[in-house]
Amino acid sequence: MLPDLNPELTELGNRNLLRRLRCVDRTGGTIVSVEGRECVLFCSNDYLSLATHPKLGKAASVAIDTYGASSVASALICGHTAAHEQAHEHIADLLGTEGALSFPTGYAANLGAVTALVEKGDTVYSDALNHRSLIDACRLSRADVQVYRHGDVTHLADLLSRTQGTGRRMIVTDGVFSMDGDLAPLPDLVDLADRSEAILLVDDAHATGVFGPTGGGTPDHFGLASRVDVITTSASKGLGSFGGYIAGSRSLVDLILNKAATYIFTSALPPQSCASTVAAVNLVRDEPWRRERLLATAVTLKSRLRAEGFETLDSGSQIIPLVIGDPAHTVDAAERLFERGIFLLGIRPPTVPQGLSRLRLSLMTDHTDEQIDQTVGALVEVKQELEI
Ligand SMILES: Cc1ncc(COP(=O)(O)O)c(C=O)c1O
Repeated sequence: MLPDLNPELTELGNRNLLRRLRCVDRTGGTIVSVEGRECVLFCSNDYLSLATHPKLGKAASVAIDTYGASSVASALICGHTAAHEQAHEHIADLLGTEGALSFPTGYAANLGAVTALVEKGDTVYSDALNHRSLIDACRLSRADVQVYRHGDVTHLADLLSRTQGTGRRMIVTDGVFSMDGDLAPLPDLVDLADRSEAILLVDDAHATGVFGPTGGGTPDHFGLASRVDVITTSASKGLGSFGGYIAGSRSLVDLILNKAATYIFTSALPPQSCASTVAAVNLVRDEPWRRERLLATAVTLKSRLRAEGFETLDSGSQIIPLVIGDPAHTVDAAERLFERGIFLLGIRPPTVPQGLSRLRLSLMTDHTDEQIDQTVGALVEVKQELEI
């Protein structure tokens, strides 16, 4: 019998941690309608404004005409198609790796990659601010997990030198951190991984298509594409499509497709998602102005917000945190922005640590200068009203 769950819900409410769903009607671009109110969207992961691009929609509808609406089985049964092959080739090409493999989501890709590579007796070194999917992946692997302070390579080096067992060692990090918007110190991490004979896995979900001269993400940005052993990513963010991917050497791909439970025991990604990802990768290659404009807007906006007294942490990306601290103030600020036609979310524990509740602004290529001005104006007003 299901116990009474209401006290738990009430308790979450009392702590200002209760979440609720809102229907967001997307009409395309940067304007949405939320519960009848038209707003500028500032919490989408569609960074390059590709989700509504006609080429992605067209590619998906051709794939549905060809394959139907479903993948109909797991990849190793009969769910793998030419659309998957093409997506694998395009993602590998974009990320500069020998091969790639699709998963239903980025979450599943992380679970699959980590559990296929390490197990009990091995050690994983995990950045303290890694995404929840990497945290769960580490737990599920049953390897010993050593958490290093966020971005702190000295702490990581210390942990690596103090924990030299006989098993495999693997360092796992986000490329761009989803809540702080800062970049992992990849140059130091690749050196450390080499010296310690550790595998390096980078979850580049928020960087693929956005960072690097060719849009290959943080390894491309730092000129280190050939030195990162495993890249995981999501096509559901900058690429405006859907699905998760792992990329690396041919043997890595072969091992993962033979071992990862989240690849073997789940339905393959639907072909239409593969087709729209192929279209997105082509646009990333052909239209570098999308990422250039996005990152240039992010730099200008951050300096304006810092000048107004906002705490934006070390964000070096299109994700801009505005730390408020208290969850109640954060929810209040998000609500006041909503009333002013700005839609973004207050992020609270457990998504971020206690005391670091924040507004999280995520930019899109198609945000106009007027929308950015409107948002800065609204944020400054709310800051004054709440004295935060
Ligand atoms: C850093 C990071 N990795 C992985 C994921 C999961 O990706 P997906 O949404 O495709 O499951 C997310 C998404 O929220 C993320 O922020």
